[in-house]
Amino acid sequence: MVSDIGGELDLTGLRRVYGRPGHRLFYALVCRNARHWGWTEPGQSKWRCWRAQRRLEGVLGRKLALKSGSRVLDAGSGSGVVARQLAARFGLRITGVDVLDFHVREARRLSALAALEDRTDFFWGDYHELDYPDGSFDGIYSMETLCHAYDPARALAEFHRLLRPGGRLVLLGPVALPPSEMPAEKRALLDPYLDAMALVGAKRYDSGSLGGLITGAGFRIEEELDASAYYRPTTEALYAYFRLPYAVLRRFGRTEQWLGLRSTVEMYQLRDHIAWLVHTAVKP
Ligand SMILES: C[S@@+](CC[C@H](N)C(=O)[O-])C[C@H]1O[C@@H](n2cnc3c(N)ncnc32)[C@H](O)[C@@H]1O
Repeated sequence: MVSDIGGELDLTGLRRVYGRPGHRLFYALVCRNARHWGWTEPGQSKWRCWRAQRRLEGVLGRKLALKSGSRVLDAGSGSGVVARQLAARFGLRITGVDVLDFHVREARRLSALAALEDRTDFFWGDYHELDYPDGSFDGIYSMETLCHAYDPARALAEFHRLLRPGGRLVLLGPVALPPSEMPAEKRALLDPYLDAMALVGAKRYDSGSLGGLITGAGFRIEEELDASAYYRPTTEALYAYFRLPYAVLRRFGRTEQWLGLRSTVEMYQLRDHIAWLVHTAVKP
């Protein structure tokens, strides 16, 4: 499923996904502005999703394993929740880039409110091609953003260029299982979902091939963790909350406005055919 065919930025598609009022309301109210899943270990409650999200950001900070004051790029920073958590909890200096101007504005506003402007900066940028000099960063992470990459190999090559030797890369996100492990009826559900959510990157790799893309870009993989068991409780909780509201919206044909709800319900239906991977890699 790996494809080396390039592509181009589909800003219209991303605006359609993230700009809809229903989608923005969903993220603001349900996810407290974070646009990612959560991490739940045995014995921990899955019902307060924002706690699971804070735990996932903690996992990311520990995998980055960088000393306080390190310069880190957040590739696809959304409203900057992850950046602020890493700045506040791990003392990192985060530069966030995002292609949606309203995300960049929101990230700046929320960082000012949290008095974290000195440790977080947000700019418009496409992470496939950024203006920073070679070796500008000690660490780079992508929290559920590579799935949007129109050319994942090119994005990884850019991350490699931007890291200093010894710099660390952490990629977290959902990845479909290889075609041989994906029954036709699940594929028929997955493809329209990926198209609706502008998840073009997720069509270019699968759980069997992403590691090869990372090493192909010049990284040494330190750990490839299948974290599906830790993500699944959030999928279950969101499904339990939103199954009925989504069914009602669907009945009235209003799902386009509410892609966040669609995401929670369809992810649940695909849960056994999606792996949640956390790759930790180093630039030699
Ligand atoms: C699922 S959201 C995750 C946001 C953030 N990482 C978080 O966890 O809250 C994906 C983000 O990636 C951004 N994005 C998608 N393609 C991008 C690109 N080529 N360059 C920079 N940002 C991109 C989107 O605009 C969106 O804000």
